[in-house]
Amino acid sequence: MEGWKSKAPLRVGILLSGRGSNFLAIARNINEGRLPNVEIAIVLSNVAGASGVQAARDLNLPTAVFVSKGRPRAEHDADLIACLREHKVNLVCLAGYMRLLSPGFIAAFPSRILNIHPSLLPAFPGLDAQQQAFDYGVKIAGCTVHFVDEHLDHGAIILQRTIPVLDTDDAHTLAERILVEEHIAYSEAIARVASGDYEIKGRRYVRRIS
Ligand code: GRF
Repeated sequence: MEGWKSKAPLRVGILLSGRGSNFLAIARNINEGRLPNVEIAIVLSNVAGASGVQAARDLNLPTAVFVSKGRPRAEHDADLIACLREHKVNLVCLAGYMRLLSPGFIAAFPSRILNIHPSLLPAFPGLDAQQQAFDYGVKIAGCTVHFVDEHLDHGAIILQRTIPVLDTDDAHTLAERILVEEHIAYSEAIARVASGDYEIKGRRYVRRIS
């Protein structure tokens, strides 16, 4: 698959369930001119009262909440797809979105969904990745931005950022320092996707030198 070719802006749809610090880092980089030709089209949440949604409102960004609790996944995701299409989204960024996507959602945005995970995948997928890494005793930790496929924390990796695990760390300080790297990594990955200068060969994201 080849990368983004259009000169039109990349219209990002953010999906979040919580505080939204990754979303805010992306928004800050856009507002400060570090992500030219990228705009946030809509911030969506599956959780009523997610503080990331209020933060988006404070920035005067369009927001929508579709509460997922108790709803069949495919039905809920159909609402998300319709909303993202209505806002002409061409890149979906999961930013602390705590719900698995249906196959229909993934098919609706082929190779157009990114996720950030707070571990060096394929190590420690799933919940509490930083605690998992700390308990395992790894010496290098970090975060991964990857394309989303139908498996959890699994698609082609765009980039990873690493930090050493310090003897003085606990799981909390480790998570805090990983989060600093996440805030850099996500915008860097979006910039790479926006540039279009890449191919996905099997599982491998490969940058094209132009
Ligand atoms: C981050 O650690 C991210 O890697 C994970 O969920 C967390 C979301 O944090 N997928 P925030 O809501 O962006 O602050």
